[in-house]
Amino acid sequence: MSAAQPGNVPSGGNSVAGGWDVTRSVGATALAVAAARAAEAERPGPLVVDPFARALVDAAGPDVPLPRGADAGDDWGALVDMMAIRTRVLDAALLAAAADGVRQVVVPATGLDARSHRLPWPGGTTLYGIDQPGVLRHTAGVLGTARARARRVDVPCDLRDDWPAALRAAGFDPARPTAWLVEGLLPYLPPDAEAGLLARIDALSAPGSRVALEAVDLAVADEYLRSDAVREMVAATGCDLGALWDTRRRPPATTVLRAAGWDARERTLGALGAELGRDPSGPLGGLVAHAVIVEAAR
Ligand SMILES: C[S@@+](CC[C@H](N)C(=O)[O-])C[C@H]1O[C@@H](n2cnc3c(N)ncnc32)[C@H](O)[C@@H]1O
Repeated sequence: MSAAQPGNVPSGGNSVAGGWDVTRSVGATALAVAAARAAEAERPGPLVVDPFARALVDAAGPDVPLPRGADAGDDWGALVDMMAIRTRVLDAALLAAAADGVRQVVVPATGLDARSHRLPWPGGTTLYGIDQPGVLRHTAGVLGTARARARRVDVPCDLRDDWPAALRAAGFDPARPTAWLVEGLLPYLPPDAEAGLLARIDALSAPGSRVALEAVDLAVADEYLRSDAVREMVAATGCDLGALWDTRRRPPATTVLRAAGWDARERTLGALGAELGRDPSGPLGGLVAHAVIVEAAR
């Protein structure tokens, strides 16, 4: 894998001078994702319960009132299914890495993720979360003094900058195996930035490391971004995915990781949802069903 290019711009044309918080630009997508997790917890028979999600959303005072579990319509419902399936599967991937002895977890673009407090980590586990300072401040402020189940280390850094240096300065040890989580990030990246992110992850991964990531099918996304269903969802969530997602084609992450020597497998959210008894339907169902979860080990 080639070395990362320092000029990469992970957030496409969506940069905001001085970064962003959870109500602006790509930061607002972290809020919408957390609102979907909150809605899932309020549905009957949830696949996953994030007890912090509702407080993380409410504390942000979103400009657009995000739908709640009970009033989720078809469009929003498919997105709630998406977050529910991906959260459940990625939780399992991370805990499997922990069961195999990995004690260092890194989450680039961690957003409003509360896994440090939500999952039953073995003692001695550290979670490093990289994101914009305003986003991290919001999450840390809401988690407050709640009991963390792993050591949580915030790494305030723009992913366009030298985040590996910031990560090392925060205590990350590249000589130890790492579990990487890349969730809800890749569609926002231009192709060269995605390649750079994967190259950096590869370069920082000792033997025994794992990668768990989520990617959307960009050809399918292109079709959906022009649809009425997405326009309605954008109005409901305040997240302009048409402006924020970069659907220029790039080699699939599974291919890139395999070429770098990782043992990688890929499953669609449609197939994973079927195993969990959850069928993402409605006008956005196809977009959700074609997204993939990639799990890789070295
Ligand atoms: C859709 S959210 C996903 C958050 C989290 N991974 C989750 O699934 O709940 C996208 C996140 O990417 C972060 N992000 C995007 N571009 C970034 C950049 N250039 N530097 C730091 N964070 C970035 C945003 O701040 C936001 O928190």
